[in-house]
Amino acid sequence: MVCDHDMVISLEKPGTDGLDEAVDALREWQSEGVAWQLHPGDLGWFQRSGTEATAAAVRIWRRDGRILAIGLLDGADLLRLTTAPDVRHDEDLARRLTEDVIAPERGVLPSGKVSVEAPEDALIQDLLPGHGWRTDEPWTPLRRDLTEPVKAPDLRIETIGPDKGHVWAGVIRASFDGSTFTAGKWHAMTAGAPYTDARCLVGYDGQGEAVAAVAVWSAGPGKPGVLEPMGVHRDHRGHGYGRALTVAAAAALQELGSSSAGVNTPSSNVAAVATYESGGFQRLPEVRDLTRDA
Ligand SMILES: CC(C)(COP(=O)(O)OP(=O)(O)OC[C@H]1O[C@@H](n2cnc3c(N)ncnc32)[C@H](O)[C@@H]1OP(=O)(O)O)[C@@H](O)C(=O)NCCC(=O)NCCS
Repeated sequence: MVCDHDMVISLEKPGTDGLDEAVDALREWQSEGVAWQLHPGDLGWFQRSGTEATAAAVRIWRRDGRILAIGLLDGADLLRLTTAPDVRHDEDLARRLTEDVIAPERGVLPSGKVSVEAPEDALIQDLLPGHGWRTDEPWTPLRRDLTEPVKAPDLRIETIGPDKGHVWAGVIRASFDGSTFTAGKWHAMTAGAPYTDARCLVGYDGQGEAVAAVAVWSAGPGKPGVLEPMGVHRDHRGHGYGRALTVAAAAALQELGSSSAGVNTPSSNVAAVATYESGGFQRLPEVRDLTRDA
C-alpha cells in the first residue's frame, strides 16, 4: 500500500465549475483560535470581477483527490494562500507550494516583485526566506468575539438588496481612493456562491444621506466571519459613523451565526485600526506577507 506521503501533490485551476468546491473547503477550514487566513469572504469580495476572473485567480493543490491548499491571486503580484488545518506542517506540501510560488513557469506568480500571504503557522513561512524572500509591511488582524449580544448602534442601518446595490457601490467608491466600484460589480459580487452567507450594509445619517458601507461574510454557523470592505464616505468622516458601522457589521455576523467578527488591515492604516478598536474589536499580533524583491 502506498502511504499518503508518497502520493503526488497536483496543482490545478478550478474552472468556474470548481469554484464552489474551493469555497466549501475554505468554509470548513475556518475555526476559532487559528492564525489569520484566507476566508471564503475573500473569494466573495473577488467575485466583483466576475466568476470567470475569480476562477482564473484561484489555485488548488490536491493529494489523492483531497484539497490540501487554496491560493487566491489577489492582483497580479500577491498570492493569498491557506491550507487545510491538519497539513500546516506537512513537509511535502510546504516544499511543493514553495516550488510552485518561486517558479514563474508554474503559472502561480509572475517573475519580479511578488508577495505571498500565508498563515503564520504554515511551514512555507520557514521555507521562502531560504530562497531570498523577506517579510513585508505589518498588517493588524482584529477580532470581536460574538458570544455576548451585540448592542445595536445609534445609526440607521439598512441591509442592501438588488434595488440598492448602486447606493452601496457609491459609498464604497467615495470611501476608497482610486476605487472603480460600480453597481455592476455589486451585482457580480452578490451572484457568487460566498454571498449566500453574506450581507451588505449601508449606514444613513440624520438627513438620510448614505454615509458608510460594509460587506460581512459568514463562513457558516459557529465559524469566524469577516468584514471586507468597510468604508465611510470621505465627506462624512469623524462623526462616529465608522464605529457605528463596525458595530452593525458585528451584529449582522452574529445574526448569521458567526462565532466572531474579524478583519485585517495594514498597521499603517491608523484610522481603520482605531475605528475597529472603537467598535469593540481587539488587536491580534501583527502578521506580514513574504516578499521577493525581484
Ligand atoms: C477608517 C474609517 C472607516 C473611519 O471612519 P470614521 O467615520 O471617520 O471613524 P469614526 O468617526 O467612527 O472614528 C472611530 C474611531 O477612530 C478614530 N479615528 C478615526 N480616524 C482617525 C485617524 N485618521 N487617526 C486616528 N484615529 C482616528 C476616532 O478618533 C474614533 O476613536 P474613538 O471612538 O476612540 O474616539 C474611514 O477613515 C475610511 O473609510 N477610510 C478609508 C477606507 C478604509 O481604510 N477602510 C478600512 C479598511 S478596510
